Amino acid sequence: MGEDAHGRLAALQQDPYPAYARARKEPGLVFSPELGGWLVARQADVREVLCRPDDFSSANALRPDVMPAPEALAELGRGPGGGPVVVTSDGAAHLRLRAPLTRGLSASRVAAAVPYIAERATALVDAFAGDGRAELMRQYAKRLPGEVIGHLLGLDPADVPAAVQGSYRAEELIFRPLPVQEQIHAARDVVALQLLLLDYAQERRQDPGDDLCSEVVRSIAPGTAALTDEQRGEVVSNLQNLLIAGHLTTTALIGTTLLHLLRHRAQWELLCADPSLIPAAIEEAARYDSAVQGFRRVTTRPLTLAGVELAAGESVFVAYGSANRDEAAFDRPEAFDISRLTIRHLAFGQGVHGCPGSQLAREQLRITLETLTRRLPGLRFAASGEEPVEMLPTMIHRSPRALPVVWETIG
Ligand code: HEM
Repeated sequence: MGEDAHGRLAALQQDPYPAYARARKEPGLVFSPELGGWLVARQADVREVLCRPDDFSSANALRPDVMPAPEALAELGRGPGGGPVVVTSDGAAHLRLRAPLTRGLSASRVAAAVPYIAERATALVDAFAGDGRAELMRQYAKRLPGEVIGHLLGLDPADVPAAVQGSYRAEELIFRPLPVQEQIHAARDVVALQLLLLDYAQERRQDPGDDLCSEVVRSIAPGTAALTDEQRGEVVSNLQNLLIAGHLTTTALIGTTLLHLLRHRAQWELLCADPSLIPAAIEEAARYDSAVQGFRRVTTRPLTLAGVELAAGESVFVAYGSANRDEAAFDRPEAFDISRLTIRHLAFGQGVHGCPGSQLAREQLRITLETLTRRLPGLRFAASGEEPVEMLPTMIHRSPRALPVVWETIG
């Protein structure tokens, strides 16, 4: 990708909404050179793609925005990852890889994690509550979800910071243009993460526990014999995918939720006065500025979508973020309004690949908003709140880079 193309992609990542709005108005589909595929922008079309997994394969769902350099790929090749993952699989292979997640992230498993989430949320807020100021991305949003998914996977808390760091490096490697030397360092961090996950997988295979890691190992590689190379690849890749999907997304949604609540001060005050609005506020934030803006699909045969004939092998970008602003589906879609009565959004996808972690994410958001509205109702932006906020350059973990806030302290 040339520098110009990077620039255009960066502009789209900062604010994709004007491009979506134009695409929704056009008949048929618009081809997006930045995204390397047809932009599926209207909600009805997005739902149609998600309901036709046989026609729209997920094989390219994680296609890198930036192809790593051969030196970085060689470094990655030394790690035990590289197997197929749930989000890029189709049909029976997908069902097999998804089964442990459905069990491991069931309502009862999530309910059992709630006391831990509450304890960690309180501890994180305690650490800065007396200071009168904080940077909420660094001190809260980037901390809680990593600790929570680490807890569910059964990681030792001492290993969580390295696991979180490795996840960020994996994301950087395939979504950011980095100098080659930096890519090689990132690839080494990813391999270190994979080796850590492999240790856990091997240990849990011998001595299973009541955690997600054991569930994944038991389900993907049944038995107790030493893991074959193929099993190692599959188990490690799926643990890595689950770790990344589990925290980067939730960090992003905590960030955008707080950003929009604080930017729309009256809505923050409404929420503090009436915490029963918290579930609606979470759904509205997820709709209004979706953390996962979209995933790709590739056509498996010649077909028609939105009246456009597509050949086999065409790439489409399924824009949940656009579907969630569709005038045909929502009244005043550009307004952030936590008092909407029903919000049928697609922020967690839909259909066979629909998010298995949505309940876990929602619980973290709920506990976050309950804690902050109760403990720090005077929270406001450190700056005036009118300045443009820099968003991270990504279409799959949309969030502010930083959230500096202040509040009055008592005594
Ligand atoms: C706010 C937080 C989250 C958002 C916005 C989100 C969003 C999504 C979306 C849109 C998809 C559909 C992907 C597709 O259509 O190809 C998805 C799938 C997935 N999510 Fe989430 N997610 C979140 C949190 C989580 C958490 C907490 C976990 C795990 C603990 C998780 C694990 C997964 C996995 C494994 C898939 C792939 C499922 C499959 O392919 O069958 N997500 N997520």
